[in-house]
Amino acid sequence: MNVTRVTPGEIAAIEFDAATIALAVGRLAAAVVEDLRGEPVTLVGVLKGALFLTADLARALPPETNVALDFIAVSSYGGAERSSGEVRLLKDTSERLEGKNVVIVEDIVDNGLTLRYLQGLIAGRSPASLRSCVLLDKPYRRSVPVAIDYIGLTAPDTFIVGYGLDYQEKYRNLPYLASLHNWVFETPQSRPSKGIG
Ligand code: PRP
Repeated sequence: MNVTRVTPGEIAAIEFDAATIALAVGRLAAAVVEDLRGEPVTLVGVLKGALFLTADLARALPPETNVALDFIAVSSYGGAERSSGEVRLLKDTSERLEGKNVVIVEDIVDNGLTLRYLQGLIAGRSPASLRSCVLLDKPYRRSVPVAIDYIGLTAPDTFIVGYGLDYQEKYRNLPYLASLHNWVFETPQSRPSKGIG
């Protein structure tokens, strides 16, 4: 891929191109299927970042898999500069999860607060099983321990955008995962409160 020709100016480097992402999603789907042993599954995508991952993961599952799709949205940062440490539910799932084999689908895990909150919330609804699937992990950034069943890729310690991840709502549409230049964050007003997109 020609970085200088196809990327916007704030993009420093493509960390994972579309083919690498597709391979990772394929590996995640294979691992999910193996654990399901033919049972139905409900994928719960975490908006907005996991929008594309959820769609691609669902389509990477074998066609005979009984797949339901649902979405949930949370916020731990709101408009604040730093995390309050509290995760707020913005949009709940539309279906009941009791008795279902649920897989939480997250784009990235950074400090771990969001996924830990979601696991607690959904576990309280008595699913038949509950697993977590994450495309990008930053294990060195945890402030709380969190168990992840399926991990696609380990992310570098840079601000990552693309494939659902944003910077100030930009770049979600990029088909690859990329790092932004440091100069993007040089003014205090634009500095992100966490190192993820
Ligand atoms: C991001 C990401 C995860 C969460 C991970 O969402 O999509 O949901 O943060 O962060 P944590 O491990 O530090 O808790 P964000 O709040 O940026 O919302 P978005 O998905 O709508 O972009």
